[in-house]
Amino acid sequence: MNHLPGHPHVHWEGDALWMEGVCLAELARSHGTPLFVYSKAAMLSALAAYQRGFTGRKATICYAMKANSSLAVLQVFARAGCGFDIVSGGELERVLRAGADPAKVIFSGVGKTRAEMLRALDVGIGCFNVESEAELEVLNEVASACKKVAPVSIRVNPNVDARTHPYISTGLKGNKFGIAHERTLATYQRAAALPALRVAGIDCHIGSQITDGAPYLDAMDRVLELVEALESHGIHLDHIDFGGGLGIDYNGDQPPAADALWKQLFEKLDARGFGDRHFMVEPGRSLVGNAGVCLTEVLYLKPGEHKAFCIVDAAMNDLPRPAMYQAFHAIVPLHRTADAPSARYDVVGPVCESGDWIGRDRELAARPGDLLAVLSAGAYCMSMASNYNSRGRAAEVLVDGDTASLIRQRESIADQIRGERLLD
Ligand code: LLP
Repeated sequence: MNHLPGHPHVHWEGDALWMEGVCLAELARSHGTPLFVYSKAAMLSALAAYQRGFTGRKATICYAMKANSSLAVLQVFARAGCGFDIVSGGELERVLRAGADPAKVIFSGVGKTRAEMLRALDVGIGCFNVESEAELEVLNEVASACKKVAPVSIRVNPNVDARTHPYISTGLKGNKFGIAHERTLATYQRAAALPALRVAGIDCHIGSQITDGAPYLDAMDRVLELVEALESHGIHLDHIDFGGGLGIDYNGDQPPAADALWKQLFEKLDARGFGDRHFMVEPGRSLVGNAGVCLTEVLYLKPGEHKAFCIVDAAMNDLPRPAMYQAFHAIVPLHRTADAPSARYDVVGPVCESGDWIGRDRELAARPGDLLAVLSAGAYCMSMASNYNSRGRAAEVLVDGDTASLIRQRESIADQIRGERLLD
């Protein structure tokens, strides 16, 4: 077998690309394109690396479902014992529908509404990750009004030095996230004094697509300094939540493996006497990113004076990351053919925007009607997809061994305009 780099569950069988026991071109033919296809085994093997890292510890892995919130994907993680990190009332309803244990749900995000807090209290979520002093006051009011006590953790901003780790974007002063390091003690003291709140833990999240373990270790040091300071003031923390952010291999990236990273982090935790706490993590991308591909058909080849374009039927509404972050996704044909002429193309979609590109300057042997796979498309693709240009969102298939299940049907125009009203 001949696996694609970074994608152990995608391999060549002869000249055809397969995921687990399923031929991807056959899926594209039976379900149409664009089509997202996910490998269940890839998700579970990414999860297993975290589970190994936590062996013998009290820990909850809360899948950050914003990465991919499709119900069947949530079910895979719920059945594997995961908790969930949510950021909206909509995400809460999705995890409940997927069979999650509400006690393992944590609620992050800077702008929770009163209605969202109320519903989360009602179903008994595990913890609110509070991001501002104002939010603490509102949560206390909402919980008092319904005679409940809200478990809280405060998201601290460790202000990890961006000069050494410039790709970290959420753990710095100047970001909208978390409570500033110097306000932490005062904020916890306020939380402890409010009658309808119970201080449960501390959390931080320093950014996403992190490929170097060093910033985690720096942030861990800063968080543990805070835990020591808080406990010396009589504020006990049951859990320490280390957020998400571990990167994946998009283009030869080499992020640390989750189990190796946690081994290093536990050395620090044990050395400082915190190894017996309950640990939480909120991984999103690293659990699903390389479990998914997006299949697309080549519509037209368009030679140009400066550039040649390969126009495909997937677009920025399906795969928004290149347009939004200049992100790289590898693109490979579903069939290797010796006879197709190879050329350099910008791979673009049909949307009427110059920003609608999926890959730039790619060497491809492609002809109209050929099928391509856009790799690393399991995270932040379908969950960020839109209806721009009134394009229906793609269908999704979950592969488990040699079984392929349709987990979301292609969105029809009737689906798109449901809820709209014509004028009288
Ligand atoms: N926890 C919190 C509080 C977060 O804000 C995030 C992601 C996560 C966990 C999960 O992070 P992950 O393990 O997936 O890196 N749309 C962007 C990524 C945005 C990440 C937002 N927060 C992208 O496509 O690259």
